Amino acid sequence: MKKICVVGLGYIGLPTAAVFAKAGYEIVGVDVSEKVVNSLNNGEIHIEEVGLPEMVKQVVQTGNLRASLTPEEADVFLIAVPTPIHDDYSADVNYVISATKSIVPYLKKGNIVIVESTIPPRTMDDIVAPIIQEAGFDTQNEIYLAHCPERVLPGRILIELIENTRIVGGTTPIAARKAADVYRSVVKSEVIETEAVTAEMSKLMENTFRDVNIALANELAKISQKLGVNAHRVIELANKHPRVNIHQPGPGVGGHCLAVDPYFIIEKAQDESPLIQEARRINNSMPDFVVENVEKLTMQLANPKIAVFGLTYKGNIDDVRESPALEIYEKLASNPRFEVVAYDPHVRDDQVSFKLASFKEATADAHVAVILADHNEFKQLTVEDFAKMRTKVVLDTKNCTTLTGDDIKVYKIGDLSTITPIHESNE
Ligand SMILES: NC(=O)c1ccc[n+]([C@@H]2O[C@H](COP(=O)([O-])OP(=O)(O)OC[C@H]3O[C@@H](n4cnc5c(N)ncnc54)[C@H](O)[C@@H]3O)[C@@H](O)[C@H]2O)c1
Repeated sequence: MKKICVVGLGYIGLPTAAVFAKAGYEIVGVDVSEKVVNSLNNGEIHIEEVGLPEMVKQVVQTGNLRASLTPEEADVFLIAVPTPIHDDYSADVNYVISATKSIVPYLKKGNIVIVESTIPPRTMDDIVAPIIQEAGFDTQNEIYLAHCPERVLPGRILIELIENTRIVGGTTPIAARKAADVYRSVVKSEVIETEAVTAEMSKLMENTFRDVNIALANELAKISQKLGVNAHRVIELANKHPRVNIHQPGPGVGGHCLAVDPYFIIEKAQDESPLIQEARRINNSMPDFVVENVEKLTMQLANPKIAVFGLTYKGNIDDVRESPALEIYEKLASNPRFEVVAYDPHVRDDQVSFKLASFKEATADAHVAVILADHNEFKQLTVEDFAKMRTKVVLDTKNCTTLTGDDIKVYKIGDLSTITPIHESNE
């Protein structure tokens, strides 16, 4: 039985550790957070992911998975630590550097070191390999280095870890093959071997493709408001073309991937990436676009109550990192004219710096409900659910509700040209 040391037990590392443990590997999961290590050793988890609590409980009970604050000797080291951006949008690879340094004392010849964290191009060759070399190892023949980026969808991580095609980029061809073989033992789909820098760039371009296409849809939403067109209908009809797939507009792009990864390319190729940079600017402008429309709706009201529905960066998850919804909440809350309350059934109080409201508290006497995440709970809302609002006006920035009736006014992000200020007489 092979032993894998998984460094970083977050949204990626923990499910990966559990999947390898379930496949029969001996896994030691390492994290710098005592809370994470202690909860895992009790068979509990600190993140929300479908099927993960049950799987973790099982593999902790069988002894295949245990957690530790320090790495141990193993056959394979798999690094899944954060790679955020600094305030100036440059990549912060310090977690990858410290995780790599932390495993160095436990390395022996023949080990495979895989970085799953999303990293800027050339990080494996220019940052990770030199750390291992400085420790006295030959990264051609003694330690095998590879980057295997993650492309899982939160909410479907356990399925996609097994079913998605994996790209494994080695700093040498033999490293690519050895690392790919590790994945072949659990992944049902294709595992493709390539060079490290190609794997790094392919991951970054996947997310950049999505970011640029969402920017196009967001630009269409703004154009549609100006021209009096319904962008949702335009997208539906344009997508009848067999080779067109316009994405959906929304309140902005968040999360640790789409809103971050394009900057890794921009930083390395500033002059060559104007389209990617403009897409980032457009998507970053969407929270202001939503706030401006809330202001338009409420300009006649002295102290409107705004109910924010959803704080995560996408639906049906609990992750608020880089969330445009949170940014919109904060922008609205900073306006002294507004009373702003937020409701999100997936978010806990300790994830945010303010007190969350219940659904009842959020809707009571509210003038506008602003929907910012397409949680299933919101898709199922009916007009009766909004009965306690003072004026029944909904701004649906995810085009996810199906509310209709004379009693309620629903504006969708791609169809805002008819926005009319709410009047006191409506109250
Ligand atoms: N979450 C996703 O859906 C997703 C998808 C694709 C790629 N990624 C990438 O995967 C990487 C990890 O993301 P995540 O969402 O799992 O992050 P996360 O923040 O959920 O988890 C990272 C964990 O690493 C721990 N950690 C930090 N430094 C450490 C160190 N030196 N040693 C041990 N543990 C350390 C943290 O305490 C944390 O528990 C990032 O590069 C991210 O961009 C994430």
